[in-house]
Amino acid sequence: MTMRGITARNRLWLPPMCMYCVEAADGVPTDWHAVHYATRAQGGFGTIIVEATAVTPEGRLSPMDLGLWEDAQVEGHRRLVEAIRAGGSIPGIQLGHGGRKSGTPPMRPRVPGARQGTLEGWELWAPSPVAFPGHAVPTELDVAGIDRLVEAFAAAARRAVEAGYEVIELHGAHGYLIHEFLSPLSNRRGDGYGGDAQGRRRFPLRVVEAVREAIGEGTVLDIRLSATDWDEAGLSGQETAEFAQELVGAGVDVLHISSGGNVPADIPVGPGYQLGLAAQVRQAVAGGAQVVGVGLIEDASQAEQALATGQADAIAVGRAALRDPYLPLRWAADLGAKAWDEAPWPIQYWRATWR
Ligand SMILES: Cc1cc2nc3c(=O)[nH]c(=O)nc-3n(C[C@H](O)[C@H](O)[C@H](O)COP(=O)(O)O)c2cc1C
Repeated sequence: MTMRGITARNRLWLPPMCMYCVEAADGVPTDWHAVHYATRAQGGFGTIIVEATAVTPEGRLSPMDLGLWEDAQVEGHRRLVEAIRAGGSIPGIQLGHGGRKSGTPPMRPRVPGARQGTLEGWELWAPSPVAFPGHAVPTELDVAGIDRLVEAFAAAARRAVEAGYEVIELHGAHGYLIHEFLSPLSNRRGDGYGGDAQGRRRFPLRVVEAVREAIGEGTVLDIRLSATDWDEAGLSGQETAEFAQELVGAGVDVLHISSGGNVPADIPVGPGYQLGLAAQVRQAVAGGAQVVGVGLIEDASQAEQALATGQADAIAVGRAALRDPYLPLRWAADLGAKAWDEAPWPIQYWRATWR
């Protein structure tokens, strides 16, 4: 898979997955992150997108998230980049701001799913003062606040490039800030940043343009979108397909198509349930950008089928890759690779490929 002249060894992506484990709460990657990402690079992924990394401290989803809001955080990210590249993968990172869903309690001590509600006193910004159920009411951003956040995205992207990341993914999905502007369910503004689709797209497009300029021609720009809110009054696949065309015009190279997260909804979850949305976007951009499909794609033949039928240009595998970091190597074998050099095996493990 070639993006802006950068070639990944295959079409499998590790999607961004927050580890919520920066104990020092300073946004700096830890040993856990280095080992976690290095292992998945050695496991054969073509492209690895490091988890949602906040562009401002208050934009973290929890106090234990990664950040790139200051220069002191660059060095730790450089370490992740080196570990990912040494394993043979293209290093990427997701940059985001949590908007009205920022500041949830950390998953420490070990309480699975603890991230509910808003921490007392957390600064919560959003397009409109509309709370996500169970969270605090956010403060509406004024235009100066919007300008500040556009600049924060650009500055974080500049730092990401300095750290060596080759793919910058903007988090425009799952009910976080960019998605909150796009969706009429969370954007009730009466000024030029709300109202019709053009108004709701203005902040996201400003971020895309500022980041495109900040990262230069040699870096891939990717945006993750929730193609639908799964709610009749919210974003639809059709609206997102149209927006995708505008994003390509603004310099986006890759669209990573997810869904939901902005309001509670009945989502028809099942194998490959978001691939139809990816295909709709891919058709709309007609080769102007590449599309990544994601969501319960858990066996090799299903992934291969989605690529062969043109639903997506790449497949991201999340939870299955938390269970098995060597999933790409196993999938290569499932698809018939026999010799060690037919799959991205680390040379150190070549004896494990035959008995
Ligand atoms: C532990 C965990 C953390 C996640 N964190 C993020 C994130 O930081 N950014 C994001 O866009 N999606 C995040 N997601 C969603 C995944 O990237 C992916 O879209 C989702 O898990 C569906 O793919 P899967 O069925 O292959 O797991 C997360 C998912 C999990 C399981």
